[in-house]
Amino acid sequence: MPGTTLTNQSTGAIVYTPPQGATLLRDLLANWERYLHDANMIDPLIRMAVCHYQFEAIHPFTDGNGRTGRILNLLYLVEQDLLDLPILYLSRAIIRNKTEYYALLNQVTSNDAWEPWLLYMLAAVAETALWTTEKIHAIRELLRETTAYVQRKAASLYSRELVELIFVQPCSRISNVVEAGIAKRQTASEYLKELVDIGVLKEMKAGREKLFIHPNLMTVLKSEDHVVPNYRA
Ligand SMILES: Nc1ncnc2c1ncn2[C@@H]1O[C@H](COP(=O)(O)OP(=O)(O)OP(=O)(O)O)[C@@H](O)[C@H]1O
Ligand SMILES: [Mg+2]
Repeated sequence: MPGTTLTNQSTGAIVYTPPQGATLLRDLLANWERYLHDANMIDPLIRMAVCHYQFEAIHPFTDGNGRTGRILNLLYLVEQDLLDLPILYLSRAIIRNKTEYYALLNQVTSNDAWEPWLLYMLAAVAETALWTTEKIHAIRELLRETTAYVQRKAASLYSRELVELIFVQPCSRISNVVEAGIAKRQTASEYLKELVDIGVLKEMKAGREKLFIHPNLMTVLKSEDHVVPNYRA
């Protein structure tokens, strides 16, 4: 589709016009893909940064190029065995420094200024890795606190498996407890209800199904500085 341009939000001036034409786009994407997988002598983090610029410059879609490019970063790190799961939330660093991010992309286009761009992306990886490690520590801290709290307030239903289960996802179903082999349906439902009674979970209806939200885990996941909520009483 011709006519895609990137404009400056405040002035409306055209900042960048992506390449046009199906054949050209396919050639550029093939070249991008070859570099991604064949340039083995270059560190994968550098390749990720180069390819993120290049993907955004090719800009193959009319919309969604930013989001797609940011997801590709993580999938690439998983593919390259640098991550087991796509949990490095690189978008956080990019979105927080959007002005700088846009300016650096522009600088590559207009001045071949690769070095500041690569350093920016490497710094984003480092910063996000440290931030995510702190997040994981906070989740483990909450796990310890929740364990102690359930042991104290509902000793009869406590098991390590049950408490760990409500940390697998921020929201559990009765079927999750059953499938984990912790209890049959009736008992599983009673366990979750009791966790609601002591204030660890919150029950919500989703259609006919009951969902059990873990609000303290949600708080830690959403917290910018990984605040671990306390259990009172
Ligand atoms: N000067 C530039 N050169 C190349 N790419 C750019 C430039 N400025 C911005 N971009 C990229 O274009 C993306 C926006 O394009 P598009 O609107 O298609 O994606 P999006 O996913 O809707 O956006 P968003 O990043 O806001 O979620 C930006 O996120 C950035 O990655
Ligand atoms: Mg958009």
